[in-house]
Amino acid sequence: MTPRTLRRMAPASLLAVTALTVSTLPADATAPVERAIPAAAKAKGKALQQLDVPLVFGHRGASGYRPEHTLAAYELAIRMGADFIEPDLVSTKDGVLVTRHENEISGTTDVADHPEFASRRTTKTIDGASITGWFTEDFTLAELKTLRAEERLPQVRPGNTRYDGRFEIPTLVEVLRLVQTWEKRLGTKIGVSPETKHPTYFDSIGLSLEEPLVATLERFGLDRRKSNAVIQSFEVSNLKDLDQLIDTPLVQLTGASGGPFDLKAQGTTYAQIVSAQGLEQVSRYADWVGPEKSQVLPRNAAGATTTPSALVRDAHRAGLRVTVYTVRDENQFLPVNFRVGVDPVAKGDVRGEIVQLLDAGVDGFFADFPDSGVDARDSWLR
Ligand code: G3P
Ligand code: CA
Repeated sequence: MTPRTLRRMAPASLLAVTALTVSTLPADATAPVERAIPAAAKAKGKALQQLDVPLVFGHRGASGYRPEHTLAAYELAIRMGADFIEPDLVSTKDGVLVTRHENEISGTTDVADHPEFASRRTTKTIDGASITGWFTEDFTLAELKTLRAEERLPQVRPGNTRYDGRFEIPTLVEVLRLVQTWEKRLGTKIGVSPETKHPTYFDSIGLSLEEPLVATLERFGLDRRKSNAVIQSFEVSNLKDLDQLIDTPLVQLTGASGGPFDLKAQGTTYAQIVSAQGLEQVSRYADWVGPEKSQVLPRNAAGATTTPSALVRDAHRAGLRVTVYTVRDENQFLPVNFRVGVDPVAKGDVRGEIVQLLDAGVDGFFADFPDSGVDARDSWLR
């Protein structure tokens, strides 16, 4: 047995599973919980140990060097030695999974420069927030393919703007083909960690992300427990659904504040989820927890890292691996004790931050600059 239910569902059952009522984490995270294998492992005194070689996840590709979520960004992450690449997923109008961090695309594409799409600009409520712009679910894949990616952070990463206008929005299928190509070329395995973005919202408009994701991973042979893939979500319910649909390992993402949108009505917070009791519950449907890095290395009032929290220890005791997000080289994204000089866009000591995270026991981390991540990881190993 494993911490998760490994039940294969017939395709005809997919919709029925999606409609299941899922249990949720209690608002009172101290409530007793029923546990599967983590309890057994605990009874034997066997907590997970940190991976011998912690993993580097190329965050949105090598997004420090290329416009994020483009084939160029993913390819560079692979060439830099990232163990995994990370496509965030949203849906098109015709139900195709494409890679964007948000379904609103004015911040990462040239859609505003396309007069033929001017009338598509609109305001929607996404996960409780009012957002104005252009949304992937209002475009067919063919229409999205006429757009080009742009650098999200031109003030921070001006060098990357030279690539504006060059790259398409890729589909998940195109990303997986790229991985296959580079696996053959390099003779090594490359992991993929897709993240479902706004899953409750996409469910609500009839463009559920889970079924096409499962079908695509099955098509590429990434639907097994030992597949070199992990599926991430900040929500809980869709991970529980996915646990019934596919054997690919799952990652429960958590934020430094707030809680999962799908459990808002219950008042569930990420702080509850990363408590020892909450993590034991997570281990019933997921395999990893993916906290914001300050949940592992809390900051003091000055913004410097302090003693590690209990999160890694508690996760390992619950049978969960831990991968933190997001390490970025620039000073403005670093804890103050790892900044070098006062220029917010200058590079700081990201290696120092990564070493402290690895010393805290994490099994992996998401990095905008995968070369820095691999270098820090490898020097830590030495
Ligand atoms: O997926 C890990 C990390 O990427 C979560 O944050 O907002 O960059 O998707 P975000
Ligand atoms: Ca992500």
